[in-house]
Amino acid sequence: MVTDALGRALRDLRVSVTDRCNFRCVYCMPKDVFGREHAFLPPGQILSYEEIARVVGALRGLGLRKVRLTGGEPLLRRGLPSLVRMLSGHGDLDLALTTNGSALASQAAGLAAAGLRRVTVSLDALDDRVFRRMNDVEFPVARVLEGIDAAAAAGLTPLKINAVVRRGMNDREILPLVRRFRGTGHVLRFIEYMDVGTTNGWRMDDVVPADEIVATIDREFPLEALPPDDPADTARRWRFRDGAGELGVVASVTKAFCAGCTRARLSADGRLFTCLFAAQGFDLRALLRAGASDADLRAALEGVWRARADRYSELRAAGTPGLPRVEMSFIGG
Ligand code: GTP
Ligand code: 5AD
Ligand code: SF4
Ligand code: SF4
Repeated sequence: MVTDALGRALRDLRVSVTDRCNFRCVYCMPKDVFGREHAFLPPGQILSYEEIARVVGALRGLGLRKVRLTGGEPLLRRGLPSLVRMLSGHGDLDLALTTNGSALASQAAGLAAAGLRRVTVSLDALDDRVFRRMNDVEFPVARVLEGIDAAAAAGLTPLKINAVVRRGMNDREILPLVRRFRGTGHVLRFIEYMDVGTTNGWRMDDVVPADEIVATIDREFPLEALPPDDPADTARRWRFRDGAGELGVVASVTKAFCAGCTRARLSADGRLFTCLFAAQGFDLRALLRAGASDADLRAALEGVWRARADRYSELRAAGTPGLPRVEMSFIGG
């Protein structure tokens, strides 16, 4: 096991399998930046599934326990079940996927058969007009709800549903979402809108703080705090006092959770980022394509992690000015 400069282990890897997405969520890939002429990565610059599997294999030896596939939108990458099959060969690895759900209705069964264990679906609103305004490509909410049902039917459970809350845009969707999903066994999680990247025009005024989200829900459905499953988890847990299950709130802006952060991120073009907000990543693709052995790879990864001292959200909370950052759609959240 390896630990970083602040004593944190390396437990989770979030793998972005593509930088493309079929949505243009206003808080993530706004159309004026990610328009028709936007240059996405050409195929040759994207890590192959074999290359991703080698990185995962090397990290296994350093303590990795969990892999989450993300994008962009991961289901846009062709043949994703074959990557899932390669990774599910590591029997004790917790293998999950975060998706916008647009293609889940057709792909959930195949992914489950390949060995995927769990899915998190992003869903910011139930009202079709609000949902379309947020994805900005006129995608109907009904298709995502079908995807959620397909994932549940395929056994990709417990299913998590992520809603990023942006003031004035979808804060009125909080209660409808709660009413819809409490009692279903799915875990709804509200996420504070974060200042990732440089393109979403983030302002603190747009953030609905976790305390406010919880108070809003608690007025209609009394809640009680639950202890964390794992100290490295992003979400604080709450249970409905009437027994209708639990929900989570990811408060990276108002209650930073860097102290327990055991996450590394692999971008689609093969760079290892040690923080969601890191401006630079370590170029693993160059190493892989120069013929590095498994031992070389492992030594490089170990070196990067040992040097890690990232705690962006804590620094932001402390008011540190001028912190640089990478785009969310590029690094997969
Ligand atoms: P589980 O491990 O299943 O709980 O999933 P997760 O919370 O790691 O993944 P998910 O993709 O559902 O992420 C939920 C939200 O938390 C997303 O908005 C992520 O961008 C955000 N998030 C995840 N990891 C980090 C992190 O290390 N730092 C910050 N600031 N936000 C994160
Ligand atoms: N703030 C918070 N969450 C975000 N996501 C994308 N952009 C942001 C942002 N600016 C979320 C997606 C998805 C997860 C991987 O990250 O909605 O649920
Ligand atoms: Fe795509 Fe997810 Fe970003 Fe929306 S939040 S644009 S679905 S990657
Ligand atoms: Fe981890 Fe960086 Fe997020 Fe802090 S801001 S929790 S160090 S990824």
